[in-house]
Amino acid sequence: MGGLIEDYVFHRDFSKTYPIITHGKGIYLYDKNGKKYMDACSGAVAANLGHGVEEIAEAIAFQAKQAAFVHTMRFETEVLFQLAEKIALLAPDTLNKVYFTSGGSEANESAIKLARQFHKDAGRPEKHIVIGRWQSYHGNTFGSLSAGGDIKRRQTYTPSLINFNHVYSPNCKRCPYQREKEDCDHKQNWSCVRDIESVINEIGPENVSAFIAEPIVGSQLGAVSPPEDYFKEIRKICDYYNIVLIVDEVMTGFGRTGKDFGIQHFGIVPDIITFGKGVSAGYAPLAGMIVHDRIVDSLIENSKGKFVHGYTYSGHPVSVAAGLSVLTIYERDRIVNNVQLAGDYLKQQLFALKYRCPIIYDVRGEGLLLGIELAIDGEKGTPFPENLHASERINSIAMELGAVFYPGSGSINGYLGDHILITPPLNVTTGEIDEMIRVLESSLNIFIEELKEEEAYEITK
Ligand SMILES: Cc1ncc(COP(=O)(O)O)c(C=O)c1O
Repeated sequence: MGGLIEDYVFHRDFSKTYPIITHGKGIYLYDKNGKKYMDACSGAVAANLGHGVEEIAEAIAFQAKQAAFVHTMRFETEVLFQLAEKIALLAPDTLNKVYFTSGGSEANESAIKLARQFHKDAGRPEKHIVIGRWQSYHGNTFGSLSAGGDIKRRQTYTPSLINFNHVYSPNCKRCPYQREKEDCDHKQNWSCVRDIESVINEIGPENVSAFIAEPIVGSQLGAVSPPEDYFKEIRKICDYYNIVLIVDEVMTGFGRTGKDFGIQHFGIVPDIITFGKGVSAGYAPLAGMIVHDRIVDSLIENSKGKFVHGYTYSGHPVSVAAGLSVLTIYERDRIVNNVQLAGDYLKQQLFALKYRCPIIYDVRGEGLLLGIELAIDGEKGTPFPENLHASERINSIAMELGAVFYPGSGSINGYLGDHILITPPLNVTTGEIDEMIRVLESSLNIFIEELKEEEAYEITK
């Protein structure tokens, strides 16, 4: 065995040691030493019903005993039809066909390929370029990474990435186009929208296949919503230039933001919705895309019904059974309703915390996709230096204290700007939220004390 490494696991980060989790119940995870962690971020905004839900485990076990695997090139299963129907009924009326993958990256990969095949087979063979957005994340496979705009994740692979184009994601509090809010009162002047048209015209509309965006930017910006009519403008542009609009709901889908899908906050219908995480609440790897009728009709008419794509585990029966059980629980327990109530309560508590804590610059997000942005100076928003790793450090302190949050950085320019996502399971209670806020506040205070001891930065408000 190489070096100092004493086990056979290719760890996520070899410089760290991770607690070994033996079991979980509700919002809590327990490690092998008996330490309890409150899962205040649902893992990676995935474990949306918390841990140890027996009903889901039983559905998984039942399907595994019935038929654990069939290949969707040869066979299908009842659960596949049942879950596809449930998902399609939640989606806008004109999105009616559901394609399954194992993860969100694969879902976006599939959407990018479907958009390309749709154009090519319909006689628009030049259309192949995807326009994505800086500081948005769509996954770690080459296609999804190329479409996304997370500089730190892209950098190592830049020479191999596909030459897709990018515009900035709107972030009005820190406008990447340096606009003041008053400048933006007339929508025609929105730089974040007009830039898209400039890019389309520069590369030639005949070359542009798809535009991809998260409705509310999760891990990269820390729960930033666009201005109210942004997506309406995007929809018009995509219609005008015949560009497939892919909305990435891997993080926002299935109630996370207080609506079934995040895009429903913005009153438009996309051409493809990709989803993941919450669809199976983390109980099995499951993701996919919901596709507009016009794309499916074209596939039937122009491509002999065949999407040139597929994975061994597309529509895996055990994962699909997990998804079916999870969606049944969301519906039965009126989970979206709880997200609205608990989300309002959590947001109020975060605003109150901002008032007490000198290093919170912003509180934002919808439903239970909430974030805080951290800064040396909570009023002006002066960012912490990148090498301080502020959000990571605060999360490590929180883990010592028994809660885990979702830290992130780079929200200002890809490097600077620390934020923390607070995204508990969708069935969280107000009592659990109170405990979560107590741990978060203690962690922030300990971090501030550490900085004072290090005499590195003067905290002011
Ligand atoms: C918006 C968004 N899209 C895509 C992905 C990639 O999903 P996965 O990690 O399941 O491949 C993520 C994961 O965090 C995400 O948040």
